[in-house]
Amino acid sequence: MQPTLELSIYTLLRMAFIWQLISLAIYLVGTLTIAAFLYDNFKSLISIIKALLEPYFQPQLPQTLLDKFGKWAVITGATDGIGKEYAKELARQGFNLVLISRTKEKLIAVTNEIESEHKVKTKWIAVDFAKGREAYEQIEKELAGIEVGILVNNVGRMYDYPDTLDMVPEDLVWEILIINVGAATMLTRKIAPQMKARRKGAIVNIGSGSELQPMPNMAVYAATKKYITHFTQALERELAEHNVTVQLIMPLFVLTKMNEYSSSVMRGGILIPTASSFAKSAVFTLGKTSTTTGFWTHGLQYFFMKLAPLRLRTLIAHELGRRLRIEALEQKKLT
Ligand SMILES: NC(=O)c1ccc[n+]([C@@H]2O[C@H](COP(=O)([O-])OP(=O)(O)OC[C@H]3O[C@@H](n4cnc5c(N)ncnc54)[C@H](OP(=O)(O)O)[C@@H]3O)[C@@H](O)[C@H]2O)c1
Ligand SMILES: *[C@@H]1O[C@H](CO)[C@@H](O)[C@H](O)[C@H]1NC(C)=O
Repeated sequence: MQPTLELSIYTLLRMAFIWQLISLAIYLVGTLTIAAFLYDNFKSLISIIKALLEPYFQPQLPQTLLDKFGKWAVITGATDGIGKEYAKELARQGFNLVLISRTKEKLIAVTNEIESEHKVKTKWIAVDFAKGREAYEQIEKELAGIEVGILVNNVGRMYDYPDTLDMVPEDLVWEILIINVGAATMLTRKIAPQMKARRKGAIVNIGSGSELQPMPNMAVYAATKKYITHFTQALERELAEHNVTVQLIMPLFVLTKMNEYSSSVMRGGILIPTASSFAKSAVFTLGKTSTTTGFWTHGLQYFFMKLAPLRLRTLIAHELGRRLRIEALEQKKLT
């Protein structure tokens, strides 16, 4: 009888030991996961707080965006929405502006408006980014001799309303690929070298919170924004050693003409800021943090969204896409 008893005690001890190992592993993985999650979500907030305290400890460092980055800001898609409000906010902070957009009349109106409110120089370039290569040749010519301090890659195109890929006009799909992926990439490539040479400057890329998961019914748009995320974050590392700042902004819904297909989005609210409050807040984060939604309620929303697993987020995104599509189609019928 003795040996069996001993055997079972050993078995029990062994099981207890294995159980201990398993719980230790769970504990370690849990702690690391929580630490990584908190780090990812709060590093931006911490860098902003650090940047706000810096002037008290190192008053000799340049404080204004103008001192940090230079005199001229170039903004694409600057005649409406977020881009226009970026332009106004940067002008308020003393930047001379080059506005790049498609419609000449709107460019003239916006530059006039800005010059009447702020004592800055402005210049505009009318190009259609959907034309691809030839747009950049024109921009390069017109930018010759301008020391670009800040480049805001803002121009972006969404479908007219959410829908499945086969329902989006083929030309529009091409435009979205060429504009959303091409413009930020090629302008960064053209302008980064002069910033590198001066060891000074900032590139701001406007991505989108839609990059957080695949977005059925906005498939192409959201995928181009995922491209912007990875492109921007890779460039941030490439340019850091040259003292050039690269920032990724990932807004959620903002009140602009891009969302006009949905009257429920256009109603606004605390989660859907105006382009003007959004841009003021986003410009405030420039030079303080490298990746941000740009607006505090978007940051909170993003935080809670990230708690859900990717698969669940994709299902929710699909449901949102479906509802927005139905709303847009009904709105179209009425008009
Ligand atoms: N609004 C949102 O909810 C939201 C959310 C997340 C991310 N974003 C991103 O934020 C950026 C700005 O969006 P927004 O809502 O402010 O857009 P918007 O109100 O539609 O304004 C777009 C701007 O880009 C210009 N543009 C459009 N197509 C162009 C082309 N082919 N060539 C040259 N210029 C062109 C427009 O010029 P015209 O006036 O001549 O059309 C306009 O100035 C985009 O990258 C967008 O993806 C927006
Ligand atoms: C980096 O840029 C800042 C201004 O943005 C400047 O004050 C600093 O001297 C630069 N550092 C180097 C090493 O060039």
